[in-house]
Amino acid sequence: MTEPEPLQFIGTNEVRFRGRQFTYYSGCDFLRLARDPRLAAAASKTLVQHGLTVAASRITTGNHQLYTQLETALATFFDAPTALLLPDGYLAPMAVAQALAGEFTHAFIDELAHGALADAARMLDCPVQKFPHRDAAALAKLVSQAGRTARPIVLTDGIFSHIGSAAPLHDYLKILPARGLILVDDAYGVGLVGQRGRGTLELCGVSRDRIIQCATLSKAFGAYGGIVLGSRVLREKMRTRSRNFMGTTPLPLPLAGAALVGLKLVQREPARRQRLVANLKWMRMQLGAVGWAIDETPGPILRLPLLSAAAATKLKTQLLAAGIYPPFLKYGNTSQGYFRFIISSEHTKAQLEQLLKVLVSFKSARC
Ligand SMILES: Cc1ncc(COP(=O)(O)O)c(C=O)c1O
Repeated sequence: MTEPEPLQFIGTNEVRFRGRQFTYYSGCDFLRLARDPRLAAAASKTLVQHGLTVAASRITTGNHQLYTQLETALATFFDAPTALLLPDGYLAPMAVAQALAGEFTHAFIDELAHGALADAARMLDCPVQKFPHRDAAALAKLVSQAGRTARPIVLTDGIFSHIGSAAPLHDYLKILPARGLILVDDAYGVGLVGQRGRGTLELCGVSRDRIIQCATLSKAFGAYGGIVLGSRVLREKMRTRSRNFMGTTPLPLPLAGAALVGLKLVQREPARRQRLVANLKWMRMQLGAVGWAIDETPGPILRLPLLSAAAATKLKTQLLAAGIYPPFLKYGNTSQGYFRFIISSEHTKAQLEQLLKVLVSFKSARC
C-alpha cells in the first residue's frame, strides 16, 4: 500500500497538497475545533502550567487532577455514571474487553465494525461471530442459536465510518437477554448526533443500562484521547484489569486541557452541529436531484457509489482541477476504493456549490 503524501492544513477547510491549495472534505474534525484558537490556548496554558506528560501510568504516579476533571465533565455531559480516559480511542474498546474477558459466552460483531472492535472482540475470551451490517434479524437468529443460558455481547459502531449509518441499538436491546450487553464504539457519533450531541444512544433514544459506550476526543471534540462511559463496576474493573489502562501513559496533559474546552464548545455552540446537518441535507438533496444514489444516514458522510477504476481516476482528475482534494479511500484490506466526502459544519455554501458542480458534471457526462 502506498503511503499517502503529507498534507498541510492551511485554513478552516483548506489544505496544501503538492504546493497547491485545495478544499478539503476528509478527516474527522467535523466541527472544526481541532485548530480553534480556544483549544490551542488551553493546550498552551496547560503545557506551561503542568508540562507535556505525566510520564507514568495512572495506577502509579500519573493520576493528574486534570484527568479526573475531564472524566467528571464527560460523565456529566453524557449523563453516564462514570467516564474513564484511555490514551486514544482505539484502545478504549480493548480496555473494556480486557476488563470483561471471560464474562461472556458469545461475542457477535457487525461485519463492518471498526478494527478497534475487531481487536477487542478477540480479547473477550469467547467465540466471536460476525453478523451482516445492521441486520437485527440475523443477530436475533445468532442469539437464539446461542441458547437460553448464553450471555452474549454485541460489538458495533454507533455511527459507521463507511457510510455514516447508525446501529439499530433499540432493536438490538430487544433481542438481547437481560444478561446481555452491547459495546458501542461511538467515535463517529459523539459530539454530533442526538439532540445534544451525546451520540448514537441519544439518537436511538435508548438508556445506557445494558450499553457501554466508547468514543474518542479526536473527532468532534477537536482534541485527543479515548473514553469509556459505563458503570462504576466497569470503571473499577478497567482500572484494575485492563492492561491498556494500567500499562500506558495517559494522554498528554495539554490535550486533556484542550479536550475540556472542546467539550464545553460542543455544548455551548450547538449551531455548529446545526450547520453540519444543514450542509449535509443540502448536499444530499442536490445530489439526489441529479441522480446520485447517496445513502440517507445520520453520519456526516457522503459516500459515492462504487466506480470503476477508470471512472474513479477521471473523477479524481476533475476534483483536483476544481481545487478539491479527492477523498478516495481504500479502507483496510478492501481491494476497491471509494469516494467518501466528509462534510463539516464550516464548509461554506460556495465550497459546497463547487463540489456539487464537479459531481453534477461528472454524473451528466456518464448518463
Ligand atoms: C470507529 C472508530 N473507533 C476508534 C477509532 C480510533 O480513535 P483514535 O483515533 O482516538 O485512536 C476511530 C478512528 O478513526 C474510529 O473511527
